[in-house]
Amino acid sequence: MQGLIQKISGPAVIAKGMMGARMYDIVKVGKLGLVGEIIRLDGDTAFIQVYEDTSGLFVGEPVATTGEPLKVELGPGLLESIFDGIQRPLDAIKKAKGDFIARGVEVPSLDREKKWKFTPAVKAGGEVAGGDLLGEVPENAWFVHKVLVPPKVKGKIKSVVKEGEYTVLDPVAVLEDGTKLTMMHSWPVREPRPFQRKMDPNEMFITGQRILDTLFPVAMGGTAAIPGPFGSGKTVVQQTLAKHANAEVIVYVGCGERGNEMTEVLTEFPELLDPRTKRPLMERTVLIANTSNMPVAAREASIYTGITLAEYFRDMGFSVAMMADSTSRWAEALREISSRLEEMPGEEGYPTYLSSKLAAFYERAGRTVCLGAGDRVGSVTIVGAVSPPGGDFSEPVTQSTLRIVGTFWALDAALAQRRHFPAINWNRSYSLYADMLSGWFRDHVSPDYAEARRRASELLQKEAALQEVVQLVGPDALQDNERMVIEVGKMLREDYLQQHAFSEVDGHCSLEKGYWMLRGILALFDHCHAAIERGTMHINDILNLPQLEQCARFKEVPQAGFKAHIEEFMRSLETTFAGK
Ligand SMILES: Nc1ncnc2c1ncn2[C@@H]1O[C@H](COP(=O)(O)OP(=O)(O)OP(=O)(O)O)[C@@H](O)[C@H]1O
Ligand SMILES: [Mg+2]
Repeated sequence: MQGLIQKISGPAVIAKGMMGARMYDIVKVGKLGLVGEIIRLDGDTAFIQVYEDTSGLFVGEPVATTGEPLKVELGPGLLESIFDGIQRPLDAIKKAKGDFIARGVEVPSLDREKKWKFTPAVKAGGEVAGGDLLGEVPENAWFVHKVLVPPKVKGKIKSVVKEGEYTVLDPVAVLEDGTKLTMMHSWPVREPRPFQRKMDPNEMFITGQRILDTLFPVAMGGTAAIPGPFGSGKTVVQQTLAKHANAEVIVYVGCGERGNEMTEVLTEFPELLDPRTKRPLMERTVLIANTSNMPVAAREASIYTGITLAEYFRDMGFSVAMMADSTSRWAEALREISSRLEEMPGEEGYPTYLSSKLAAFYERAGRTVCLGAGDRVGSVTIVGAVSPPGGDFSEPVTQSTLRIVGTFWALDAALAQRRHFPAINWNRSYSLYADMLSGWFRDHVSPDYAEARRRASELLQKEAALQEVVQLVGPDALQDNERMVIEVGKMLREDYLQQHAFSEVDGHCSLEKGYWMLRGILALFDHCHAAIERGTMHINDILNLPQLEQCARFKEVPQAGFKAHIEEFMRSLETTFAGK
């Protein structure tokens, strides 16, 4: 199908005479054959977003549809790769053209020459269907890639290769009907990959960050947003989660505004070490990078590319964490293309379909029973950063995201300035998963976890209210018991919620250690509170107790011996308060 360019506006091209072309078809635009995608069709007029720089393109040049939607390649070799928004490997592009974004270059996403050791898991004569295990490939020193029958494929195995070294294009099995199965298949990025069924969000996505795990937990397969102004810690939180959360595979989509932002990710990420294996974190990561000099349309596509890769690893039965940093840059790409196509703008110039697009993206998260025999369970948990201009959460991207996600971790400029990290505002953040996870906490941490959590939030709220009183009338107006609430609020904030991401001991905190820290602080508070009520102690006596100082040092105590440490602490409280 051949059309002609009628209009060019930056990354947007309008072409006439595109009869027969379909929505979301990939097209080759102009004599250069630039890659584009049809994002709207009106009769035979196609509205196209082009994934490459359109300078030098002229009206009247041809546009041809490939009849295929935008797809990604799925197979061994994804881990440790760095791709652009439409899955072109960055180093391969660099090698091919000596440039980051040479135009019209066709480079395969997965290496065609590399041989992988394939061990078949099926025999001739067996019946297979989508999602069934075909064989296994060690992708690196420890990661075993499961090669599955692609969704929608079904049949009886006619022949299968012997264990050996094969490329991603070598057929490893042939079905009776002649279908050749390779280690690689492609999948359209805008189509969610199928699964058997979704499960309830009642397993914990453990982050190792106390404020998140205790106050604002996210479920495995859940969704979380981190909105925050410039420099408040969005990227640090996402990288900390990439390192410490209990996800097996990380898909990190970086959408940078300033050029250096992505360079940071591109240089820093490959340096990160997996704290568990002490090996490069990249061995279980796929990185998708959009720098500011890449065309905006590729940025728009990048989160779909990312989520499709995440779903692919989910289908193998892994828990996957997908990070998008930041979804605001993605929404801005959407806005730019929409305005170039002269669509009717909604709030602040964003297209009216912004919310539905965001919702469709976050809906692809979930914990699922995967396709195929064996009922594997896999999950995709999405953590999206939002960077509202000026830190104003009332803008459309933050507001639309807020209505979709299950957890909202609101970063706060004032906290970041005071170097209170993670700078998550405990009054503005929330989690809709906390209740559903209470059974999990009861079974995996402690029967009174929910109670400790409830008390911590309540004390923090009381403290905030009392701080307002102090602002108005000064601390002297407070009674001793109220001053004690202020004191415990401060301890909860500084000794519990604050957690330095780069600390050797405290960068990650186990749920168990966090729970005992909280129990220690609450026990101290209960003793003090009772002594004040009985009139046997004054707040000034309390402020001099050595146990206050000890609480402040809980963080530095290694997790291994922490329970013994806290038991000793509890005994010292009994002694101190005996008879008081
Ligand atoms: N959890 C943390 N522990 C220690 N330091 C932190 C933490 N979070 C943020 N910081 C400090 O704040 C700085 C800025 O954080 P970061 O780059 O993550 O902000 P950002 O919100 O991603 O900013 P931008 O809007 O520019 O993308 C970091 O370089 C680091 O010094
Ligand atoms: Mg950042």
